[in-house]
Amino acid sequence: MELIDVSDELTFTLRNAAITYAMRVSTEGLLEQLYFGASINAPSPQPRPLRHCTVMFEDSPTLTLNELPQEYPTQGRGDFGSPAFHAVGADNSVFSFLYKSHRVEDVKPMLDGMPSSRGNGVKTLIVTLVDAVQHVEVDLHYTIWANQAVIARRVEIRNVGSTPISLRHVHSSALDLPPGDYDLQHFHGTWAREFNAERVPLPTGRFIIESARGTSSNAHNPYLAVMESGATETEGDCFGTTLVYSGNFAISAERGEFGRVRLLAGLNPFDFDWTLKPDETFATPEALHAFSRKGLGGLSHVWHDSIRAHILPERFHNAPRPTYLNTWEAAYFDVTEDKVLELADVASGIGVEMLVLDDGWFMGRTDDRRALGDWTADPDRFAMGIPALAEKVRAKGLKFGLWFEPEMVSPDSDLYRAHPDWAMSVPGRTPSLGRHQMTLDLSKPEVVDHIYGQLDAILSSGQIDYVKWDMNRNMTEVGSGAKAHRYMLGLYGLLDRLMTAYPDILFETCASGGNRFDLGMLSYMAQGWVSDMCDPIGRLSIINGASHLFPTDVMASYIGPSPNHQNGRVSSIRARFLAGVVSAARGVSLNGPEIAVHKDALTKYVQFSKVTARDMLGARFDRLRHHGNETIWQQTSRDGSTVYVITFQILNAPNLPLRRVRLRGLDQAARYTLDAGAIYGGDTLMHRGIALTIPTEDFAAELLILKKVS
Ligand code: GLA
Repeated sequence: MELIDVSDELTFTLRNAAITYAMRVSTEGLLEQLYFGASINAPSPQPRPLRHCTVMFEDSPTLTLNELPQEYPTQGRGDFGSPAFHAVGADNSVFSFLYKSHRVEDVKPMLDGMPSSRGNGVKTLIVTLVDAVQHVEVDLHYTIWANQAVIARRVEIRNVGSTPISLRHVHSSALDLPPGDYDLQHFHGTWAREFNAERVPLPTGRFIIESARGTSSNAHNPYLAVMESGATETEGDCFGTTLVYSGNFAISAERGEFGRVRLLAGLNPFDFDWTLKPDETFATPEALHAFSRKGLGGLSHVWHDSIRAHILPERFHNAPRPTYLNTWEAAYFDVTEDKVLELADVASGIGVEMLVLDDGWFMGRTDDRRALGDWTADPDRFAMGIPALAEKVRAKGLKFGLWFEPEMVSPDSDLYRAHPDWAMSVPGRTPSLGRHQMTLDLSKPEVVDHIYGQLDAILSSGQIDYVKWDMNRNMTEVGSGAKAHRYMLGLYGLLDRLMTAYPDILFETCASGGNRFDLGMLSYMAQGWVSDMCDPIGRLSIINGASHLFPTDVMASYIGPSPNHQNGRVSSIRARFLAGVVSAARGVSLNGPEIAVHKDALTKYVQFSKVTARDMLGARFDRLRHHGNETIWQQTSRDGSTVYVITFQILNAPNLPLRRVRLRGLDQAARYTLDAGAIYGGDTLMHRGIALTIPTEDFAAELLILKKVS
């Protein structure tokens, strides 16, 4: 089977064993969408019933654009839905694209200046459309992989005329789904409460998630799933859409008056105005669409495989992550050389492999009101400097990690005093501070160069194994949506340089936890700090929600203090460990006395994390249950040999009923031992399930381990 077939009549079919995506050039020359879903042979065009009160397209008596699904719809010619593309030309804003040419490539052409999924074993269809009146061409890129139920889409827009045009809506993708009853699922949240999954029926009208904050944001992660309304975790057609982008975005679903469902994904059109001069090209970020017939769980498996294979830096693919001790909740800003060395001893005493020095190590940074931008060690507290300290920590047999927040500047900093014009601001307005800090203007090459130089000065010592890259405020006084996009291009350019120079340093993306947890950042950084919420009960919904899109390979979690610093809850060390047990990167953030109290348990958990490090990479993750009082997850190692079942019951009650859970995705014919005891058939585990302990306390957490024996 060819991955891409182009018929003589110009029907384009992208197809593998899991999905088909098809479009054709209509008799009018429009690029008409035919189908996206389970793998089928080339689908035929839909009928075009005529309706009252619609507008004919040109002189075609059978065509109204308001119902024709198009690959790159515009406004102004009879399609009254939201446009994928909208611009203002020399004297009007009416655009309409017709087919010009196409080509098929055996590679995925590079997207310059922005991250995008990697294209091995792919075919890419590029269809060029033209508006001969406005003199604009668009190249629509579609990539299909041989073995993934994912399509990558992006667009390049060229001004082939002689006057500038102003780009306003430049979505990466438009996708019309067949009429039907659908639900939408999206993730909303805020600091320390990220990734709340909300499922609502798709209304008539337009539902939009978006960010105009300069980060992809925790308010709405850039991810929208549309599913048949009856879909469950294991059954039903589900479509997922996300972007490989970390800035202002918009993803919307719109049901028109005749039931057409249009998905749009791309840069947020709000306040976006990009001047495209003659001969210039504008490239959109990449959008990804995934499909599964096997419900939301199936859709997650598609995303997990695809993100591991095509997004995450290859260097860290299946590379076990070191266990770590992070100084943040252990000491906050109260860090000194001596304390770090002491904590390094405490860390190695419980078997931890890496010491991460979080915030507080640079010039006068004794609280969050100062010093961002001055990335040299504070001489009063770190007299020997960071490389020498790192060397000492490493001499103890540990790796060394360091926190930076490179995109920010404190007004009270040498950098700001020297270059006030490097911070985002607009004339006549006092800059708004967030966490007492301002955002550096990364659209300026000199700012990017400066940041690179400062990081390079420390990283080039060769003593740093890991960097936590933080970003702790939303942007204001940016000035325009175009500038916000230029900022992202500056950031991606900086990250490209750093990753090229330091391919072996493990980077972790963080933005007050999950305020920029997206495929753009994860293209450079193999893992992310999902949330600052470390209370196990608070973290359950966050991991559960994030798991819809993200594999556990990218998740970092640590055992934090109890009572918890974010919500005050007291919880057992066991529950704190188990809430993060599926994460690839596991650690602790406790001080010496707290560690001493739990030394035996922590030693055991750290050892367990080391032994199971590989099992948390490339694993199959199943959300077996997640509602009111109970969460149950199943993590099955990549080779299928080990199955972890993690159960949480939040509140206890007397005389509880029996509990049972059915497992998923096991080898029906194999046998598994439970906690090295009883033996069960894979079929029994999946169909009858296993009995769970009846909890006897609040926040009860349990881990069951099944090993395949034959
Ligand atoms: C953010 C991060 C935390 C920690 C602090 C340091 O809040 O999410 O993990 O690094 O910054 O200031």
